[in-house]
Amino acid sequence: MSQTIHIFESPEATARAVAELMLQKAKEKFKQSLPFNVALSGGNTPKLLFQILVEDFQDSMPWHILRLFWVDERCVPPTHAESNFGMTYENLLKQVPIHEVNIFRMTGEADPQKEVARYATLLDAQLPLVNGLPKFDLVLLGMGDDGHTASIFPNNLNLLQYESTVAVAVHPASGQKRLTLTGNIINGADSVVFLITGSSKSSVLRQIIQHEPGFEKYPASYIQSGSVAFYLDKAAANELPL
Ligand code: 6PG
Repeated sequence: MSQTIHIFESPEATARAVAELMLQKAKEKFKQSLPFNVALSGGNTPKLLFQILVEDFQDSMPWHILRLFWVDERCVPPTHAESNFGMTYENLLKQVPIHEVNIFRMTGEADPQKEVARYATLLDAQLPLVNGLPKFDLVLLGMGDDGHTASIFPNNLNLLQYESTVAVAVHPASGQKRLTLTGNIINGADSVVFLITGSSKSSVLRQIIQHEPGFEKYPASYIQSGSVAFYLDKAAANELPL
């Protein structure tokens, strides 16, 4: 497992660097006449990335080979203000030429347990299987202030070694039900990129990167796919000894 850390002046520069990385990976797939299978996270941080992709990568990105999946979803309809799909649709999907057959939405409005089964089956059918595990080319992750990633929260570390690729989670503060990819499929990805900005993440990030005592309580510390890249702005990285 290779871990790299990339630090940028601002959230915009950080998001732009991730967009450039996505373009580079997509072009590599295009040259091989292969699709580019990507799992997207939600929350706020990806909005800037999506806006930059729309504004500055409209013509360069081979959109027709992108196949989009979700890392997690809140158990709400896609029109709900907290829907990760809804956020992605507004900031990206409605503005770029990705065909709907290449958009694999987690249906947050469905019965959670039924959706877990449906989406796990979908992943098996839609992604290449490596040792029986569906393999993403890229998983884009964020990290919460509490060190959660995807919707794997510190009180649910069992989801990191979970048998199913998809599970129901519950937000520890709000009690909101979530659908989430679990640790094994994330760690089976060819590449994982953490896009983390803002000073509120800096303390937990330092503990994880430095493997400080107790770092294992943070779910983000268990993400160790083939290649893990941290894309950070200076604010998020301001406690790192770099
Ligand atoms: C979600 C995300 C989640 C997110 C972190 C960071 O559904 O909320 O998938 O894992 O990446 O909570 O969220 P922010 O980007 O809003 O800080």
